[in-house]
Amino acid sequence: MSGRIVVLISGSGSNMDALAAACERDEVPGRIMAVFADRDCGGIELARERGIEAEVVEPKQYLDRADWCEALAKRVESHDPDLVVSAGFMRILTPSFVDAFEDRLINLHPSLLPDFPGAHAVRDALEAGVDLTGTTVHFVDREVDHGPVITQERVRIEPGDTEESLHERIKAVEHRVLPRVVGELLTRMRP
Ligand code: GRF
Repeated sequence: MSGRIVVLISGSGSNMDALAAACERDEVPGRIMAVFADRDCGGIELARERGIEAEVVEPKQYLDRADWCEALAKRVESHDPDLVVSAGFMRILTPSFVDAFEDRLINLHPSLLPDFPGAHAVRDALEAGVDLTGTTVHFVDREVDHGPVITQERVRIEPGDTEESLHERIKAVEHRVLPRVVGELLTRMRP
């Protein structure tokens, strides 16, 4: 049985793409049913090139954040997902969204949480002068970048690293970690 995955993105979508590729190679027992973004972004094009339904649900088209998030939840739910993956989605989801997808909503974050939550995790790690950072996949709860950790992997900060170079190395790790975690979760859910 193939698991149903929905991915939320805001940017280049390289993690969504790595996950889609792993699904296509049958390394993950699932399929990305749809990709949603809060803005027009590179990941939307990547998804469409792979033949995945991809839609922008823009907050500015709605009355307020709650209204937007409710509309997004309905669109996501229409795909009956086993797993909703937030992979570079740069909006805070409302408690009602989080509750609606409890135990099937995961987030990918480019730091070793609880260190460096927030939108500038890579920059914050560099500015803090730490030697190690990494990536975290966790279940989402009502707090931002918070919830039960599923897995973490470390990435060493090298002398001369910039935010860009460090984030690229973190993403290279994420491209391997995210499909593995999604595969494990789907196998557990649909043995
Ligand atoms: C990833 O580093 C993820 O951890 C963070 O945003 C980045 C998304 O990159 N939340 P991409 O859009 O998948 O290339």
